[in-house]
Amino acid sequence: MNTLDPDNIRQTISRALGARLEILEVFEEIESTNSYLLDQPAPPPGWFRVALADYQTAGRGRLNRTWQSPPSSGLCLSMAYTFRQMRVKLPGLTLALGIGVIDALRRLDISGIRLKWPNDIIAHGGKLGGILTEACQGARKNLTVVTGIGLNVDLPDAMHALEKATMMNKIVDLKRCTDNPPSREQLSVAVIESLFDCMVKFEADGFVPFHDEWKKVDWLSGRQIIVDGADGRCAGTADGVDDDGALIIQTDHDRRRIINGSITLQSAPGDIA
Ligand code: BTN
Repeated sequence: MNTLDPDNIRQTISRALGARLEILEVFEEIESTNSYLLDQPAPPPGWFRVALADYQTAGRGRLNRTWQSPPSSGLCLSMAYTFRQMRVKLPGLTLALGIGVIDALRRLDISGIRLKWPNDIIAHGGKLGGILTEACQGARKNLTVVTGIGLNVDLPDAMHALEKATMMNKIVDLKRCTDNPPSREQLSVAVIESLFDCMVKFEADGFVPFHDEWKKVDWLSGRQIIVDGADGRCAGTADGVDDDGALIIQTDHDRRRIINGSITLQSAPGDIA
């Protein structure tokens, strides 16, 4: 049985990391692990706390979308981390954490995973998972960030059937990516370790040390895209990201720097939005 036992997870996390873990909780059912951690007291600077759920009744995605994952079929994990300073550039952090997730999967012998700016985890041309990074509100000296990772591990056939029937975006699960899928506990440990490493590295040097790795996993690079953002719609060729993690798009007229927006492919407008 593919359960999530908090003691197993805690004991498997590396000792150095465990020393920085304030609380790790597993819920059978919860509205959203991100919402839960946003309501909890912030961990002390340099410390983190984790919430995992077998099932979320109101899982949330970026741009007010929902995140759906049937019971026991995926990883629903959130981590709260407190930075020692306030000036953290969240868009770049999401990209860095995506690289962390890829690294965690690689350590579990799962390769070929890409990232679609800013927060989609892509495999076989479909959405394997997503990242939702949110800052805790409140006047503090430090900044606490909650980042949530949703990964499809073993989706029921009904979900794939729904995808076909409704022509919703293509979804992919880890079972499709490897003959030997890790347990959700193994996955949790690997993801927690990677996320924490990324938080610490990002805190020290921002997005710059992640930039080269991003180039290797950038799914949009060179593709014709449409960006729907606060300033309206623009179309052009995706040309990587800058040192802050902003998306660069070459239009017919100019080069633009995008810090927020929804991206679709010009060739497949309904694809992986
Ligand atoms: C997206 O694709 O837009 C982001 C999806 C993020 C889903 C995860 S699951 C754990 C955490 N709790 C949530 O409500 N959302 C994130």
